[in-house]
Amino acid sequence: MARKRLVAGNWKLYGSVAQVQDFSAALKQGLQSASVDAELLVCPPYPYLAQMQALLLEADVNVGAQNLAEPAGPGAYTGEVSATMLADIGCSYVIVGHSERRQLYAEDDTAVAAKFARAQDAGLTPILCVGETLEQRESGAMQEVLRRQLGTVLAECGVAAFKRAVVAYEPVWAIGTGRTASPEQAQEAHAFLRAQVSAEDATIGSELSILYGGSVKPDNAAQLFACEDVDGGLIGGASLEAESLLAIARV
Ligand code: PGA
Repeated sequence: MARKRLVAGNWKLYGSVAQVQDFSAALKQGLQSASVDAELLVCPPYPYLAQMQALLLEADVNVGAQNLAEPAGPGAYTGEVSATMLADIGCSYVIVGHSERRQLYAEDDTAVAAKFARAQDAGLTPILCVGETLEQRESGAMQEVLRRQLGTVLAECGVAAFKRAVVAYEPVWAIGTGRTASPEQAQEAHAFLRAQVSAEDATIGSELSILYGGSVKPDNAAQLFACEDVDGGLIGGASLEAESLLAIARV
């Protein structure tokens, strides 16, 4: 079965009410003048989710979150936002296990697997991020890292959970650095990840969308998306401008 391309924007800790307004208007206008074959998703910070969701409702653009609480809630978890709340305001996706969460907020594989499960319980599609650091790549540990990060979620949630999930390969050394993985490096990692899932269920493995993330720009997206096992992109910096997100979605 052909996998539909997904182009997802991760705004990280950027944005404002005014920026969401301008971005949404520009995105809508761009889509009115020419439609896009790829599915589009934007993940702004929590305070802007409802605003963006309302502005993009008619534009056939999904809105998702960058993180979610590990407890299902409701409950006494000051500062947290639950999967149920995200679904309630109209999110359809949520990023889990981004390398910035793993590195800066000490999220380990078990916490990531719990968040993945919470997202699915609430009807959201989790985008599970995995990827090795430069040190791990250079020491030959890439496959071991990917096997552990993906394997923990496979073990905790079961392969059937991947019927309604997306995986994003984001080599840490390529995020925000301008240093993109080559198409060969991306293809190798994506094929390896798909094989891990296919080993447990060939159909689920072949239908799983695997995005590439890490310095994707309008001028390198075509080469990356042409790889057999690359099904779209998770875009950080280049997703803050509607024009560049659209240019990436149109390659
Ligand atoms: P980048 O970020 O495109 O700015 O490298 C990607 C990501 O972290 O998801």
